[in-house]
Order: sequence, then C-alpha cells, then structure tokens
Amino acid sequence: MAKVTDRLNIHLADWNLLYTKLHHYHWYVTGPNFLALHAKFEELYDYAGTSLDEVAERILAIGGKPISTMKQYLDQTMLTEGGKEKSPEEMLEQTIKDFQTVVGSMRETAKLADEAGDGVTTDMLNGHMAELQKQVWMLTAIAKGLPVKA
Ligand SMILES: [Fe+2]
Repeated sequence: MAKVTDRLNIHLADWNLLYTKLHHYHWYVTGPNFLALHAKFEELYDYAGTSLDEVAERILAIGGKPISTMKQYLDQTMLTEGGKEKSPEEMLEQTIKDFQTVVGSMRETAKLADEAGDGVTTDMLNGHMAELQKQVWMLTAIAKGLPVKA
C-alpha cells in the first residue's frame, strides 16, 4: 500500500499549503465584500485544518508515515504559495483553480485506493472531493456577484 500512502502525503502537503494560503486571503482580502470573503476564507482554512489531520491519521492507520515539516510540504505540494493575488477576484479565481487541481489529484488516489481494496481511504477522499466541488460552485457564484474588473 506504499503507493496510496505516497499519494496521501501529496494531499497532506496540499492541505497544509492551502491552510496557509487561505489564511493569507482571510487577512489580506479587501473591498466592499470584505466581511463575507473574510468569513468564507476562514471557513475554508478551518476545513483544510480538519482535513489535513484526517489525511495524516489515515496514513498512520494504514501503516504509513505522514510528512510533517514545512519543507516537506513545500517540496511535495502540487500548488504554489499565495501572495501574488491582490484583488478579491484573483483570490477567488486562484482558490477555485487550486480546489479543482486537488480534486483531480484526489480522484486518481481514490481510484488507486479502490484498486488496492482500501475503500475506507476512498470514502475519505470522496468526502473531501464532494466538499471541494461544493465550494467551487459557491466560490464561482460569489465571484459572479463581485463588481466586474475594468
Ligand atoms: Fe481571523
């Protein structure tokens, strides 16, 4: 089952990256929709925090070793750090892209886990994918309500 745990470590790295990146958006978002976006990004980093722990503990439960340093997370994540996004539109767009990237990656892991007879890992990933897909829909709806860029 080494392959499944290797892939779960990538998800662990992605969740850790998102945990930090979503805090950045929570702190630095500005504009007339500040309150709603500030609260939304908090909801999302809370979900990232819960999920990263679930993934790490699942890795331990199936005999693997979760990576646990910032350096390892940066080395293994599929995502890039935040900081370049200035407007709320850019922050939402980047979050949507990141969630879609992560869902695509989790889908491969879920398939691999299923083939390995590890339906519990597949169930966990399906739960994370369902939540991320719901959030992509919500963030897209929020982005459409923001003032159009000049
Ligand atoms: Fe806060």
